[in-house]
Amino acid sequence: MSVKKRRAAQKAVEFVEDGMTLGLGTGSTTKYAVEEIGKLVQKGYHLVGVPTSLETERQARSLGIPLATLDEVKELDLTIDGADEVDPQFRLIKGLGGALLREKIVAYHSRQEIIIVDESKIVEQLGTRVPLPVEVATFSHGRTKDAIEELGCTATLRGGATPFVTDNSNYIYDCKFGGIEDPKRLEGELDAIPGVVESGLFLDLASLVVIGTDKGIEVKRRAQDC
Ligand code: A5P
Repeated sequence: MSVKKRRAAQKAVEFVEDGMTLGLGTGSTTKYAVEEIGKLVQKGYHLVGVPTSLETERQARSLGIPLATLDEVKELDLTIDGADEVDPQFRLIKGLGGALLREKIVAYHSRQEIIIVDESKIVEQLGTRVPLPVEVATFSHGRTKDAIEELGCTATLRGGATPFVTDNSNYIYDCKFGGIEDPKRLEGELDAIPGVVESGLFLDLASLVVIGTDKGIEVKRRAQDC
């Protein structure tokens, strides 16, 4: 059990109010948040969750959290999710857990996106701690990989000979750029490659970051949301 992750998750769940529709992220940090949301439901809160993965859906169901699809609820009040890197401009790399496509769709349709991390995820520049996950269609994925590598990275198929298959039946390439100079430009370049379904760059989506540290909790709000 990670105390820092749990602390961050508990703090984030303090922002949940009765009656909210919630995006439920994916990963080991978000698991703690979903646990806390389950406790609120037990207390009588009327909440509806939209899970970002089959894994989170299973956990939420087991805790009795009412679920819906994004199409059913139309808009989300708040999403709580983890991240693999967070830079000083609140830009993120996500997708090491493989749920980046649904996470990005859910984040885009949320009024507020709270990111929960431990301090190890805080970086000065994206792409320096982890590779960038890029979800691709399985059709002709080797050619898609070649096009991605032309952008200046080394791309490795997740799972190798037994590729990891996402909840959306796609593959993931983990792309080592060794530091991403211009995340916005890279996002556009990746989006322009046929076969790329989505990248793990989350650029204008996080409104609040809750960081679990050795000393306690740090809450950072993006300037424009103040
Ligand atoms: C899932 O696809 C990811 O985006 C996770 O949110 C991210 O990998 C963080 O996961 P942990 O909380 O397990 O580090």
